[in-house]
Amino acid sequence: MIRRLAALLLLALATAALTAADLPQTSLGSGGGVAAEEGTAAEVGIRILREGGNAADAAVAVAFVLAVTWPEAGNIGGGGFWISRDAGGSVLAIDFRETAPGGARRELFLAEAGRPAPSSTEGPLASGVPGSVAGLALAHRRAGRLPWKRVVEPAIALARDGFVVSANVSESIASERARLAKDPRTARIFLPGGEPPAPGSLLRQPVLAKTLEAIRDRGADGFYRGEIARALAEGQKKEGGLITRGDLGRYTARVRRPLRFRFLGAEIVTTPAPSSGPVLAEIALAVARVPDDVRPPGAESMHWLAEIEKRAFRDRNQLLGDPAFPGVAERAFTDPARIARLVASVDPAHATRTAALSEVFPEKPTTTHFSVVDRDGMVVAVTTTLNDSFGNARVAPGLGFLMNNEMDDFATRPGEKNLYGLIQGEVNSVAPGKRMTSSMCPTIAVLPGRGVFAWGSPGGSTIITTNLQVLLALTLRSQPLVAALAAPRFHQQDFPDALEVEKDAFDPAWIAALEKMGHAIKPSDRDPVSGRIGRVHAVAALPGGRSEAAADPRRHGAGLVVQPQTAP
Ligand code: GLY
Repeated sequence: MIRRLAALLLLALATAALTAADLPQTSLGSGGGVAAEEGTAAEVGIRILREGGNAADAAVAVAFVLAVTWPEAGNIGGGGFWISRDAGGSVLAIDFRETAPGGARRELFLAEAGRPAPSSTEGPLASGVPGSVAGLALAHRRAGRLPWKRVVEPAIALARDGFVVSANVSESIASERARLAKDPRTARIFLPGGEPPAPGSLLRQPVLAKTLEAIRDRGADGFYRGEIARALAEGQKKEGGLITRGDLGRYTARVRRPLRFRFLGAEIVTTPAPSSGPVLAEIALAVARVPDDVRPPGAESMHWLAEIEKRAFRDRNQLLGDPAFPGVAERAFTDPARIARLVASVDPAHATRTAALSEVFPEKPTTTHFSVVDRDGMVVAVTTTLNDSFGNARVAPGLGFLMNNEMDDFATRPGEKNLYGLIQGEVNSVAPGKRMTSSMCPTIAVLPGRGVFAWGSPGGSTIITTNLQVLLALTLRSQPLVAALAAPRFHQQDFPDALEVEKDAFDPAWIAALEKMGHAIKPSDRDPVSGRIGRVHAVAALPGGRSEAAADPRRHGAGLVVQPQTAP
């Protein structure tokens, strides 16, 4: 009898999984909305909005649920950036980036130069001190209105009772199967019976549920102090990592002054250093100076944008890092005189060679982004990451969550590229307590007469150019949100000297013209599933109290609103 009931329950849940897979990718309506990479998380966000939570409550709940249902990048063992704007126009920017442990030194990874799987990406040394729980607690304290327990509880239930694995989640786990199989603790959870969980099966994470319960009951202290901190530090010590209880106790998420700039009549806010909001701003401000006749879509506008990106990435690698440490020149990114010089240095007819060539590299987009809007018009954009897909692919002993490999975002070995092919400078060298530079830059745009838009993307270094291209589509090209997300993307990051383009997405005549100008064209293979660039999840608070939520059509995310608009 019990077995039959269990079978019926599983059948009901499997049906729910099919529904989850069928969730809309874009929705227009009212009452608020959520766009996220994983359907169950988006549905929980909608439930929180329906129950009277605001966008901040829903965003915190979605973030915790993603730590259960989207293990590739949702996390409590990683970090990220939050930006929100309430209906009155107040902006909150929170930096919950990981920090280097107190025992980390500049030389930590130097001896491994040339190694294909250095310890900045694999193993316990790869992890920075996690920031997510502190960041979400701070965001909730500053902007939420429901009780903390209420927004953490849905994640606990999904970890304890299990969630139904969608094709999306199964595919995500399968794409990293070999790495997940290396650590027996990780394999036990994510490769039950040695295989990725099948779509429709139930994935339970009881140990993670216990960890989340401590966070529910004691807030951030439940993670950074007491039993969890002790177990995390002991596990690190035993396995050769550096994170101590002291590091955890000292971790602080920071409220940052948001970076604001005007672009073609729109008011833009994004996250400042150590995120790459300054790079996004520099590129946009330079584009605003490009002659009008090269702005229409085509080879010429692609050439200008690629050349600007090349120069802005060089600035990123030399001037951007943790602002608490020397060498960071954040103001340079928005300095009008400097931007004028940057634009003047572009040759309108020829690609400028980067200083050195390096071979084209494979890269997996990681990280995840979700956005929320509520009925009052508050928008939240959160990008969060473990760095590589599934972080260092090691579950913390006895705690049930995956740890990040964010130390690789430092300039670990001068002159060598990191996971994203970035070759970074001294400004981003390893130092105790320092935050590593990030490409994340969740962004909000206030478009007069059109509404408030919030978006972001995973994709390592392509986050910056993906977010920028959405901004250009919304403003320069006046495209609706859904078209802005669907528009083909390209990317140039200085090293390697290649213009990456989404395969078969651009007019071959444009590509031929770009090659003639000297651009080395590389069809993108960024995403292990789609091969495309970026995965944007966006919302908008539209005039008349309407809400819009949109998932990137390149993958299988969900864009849901509280009350979908019905056809007249
Ligand atoms: N871990 C990718 C980034 O923050 O840039």
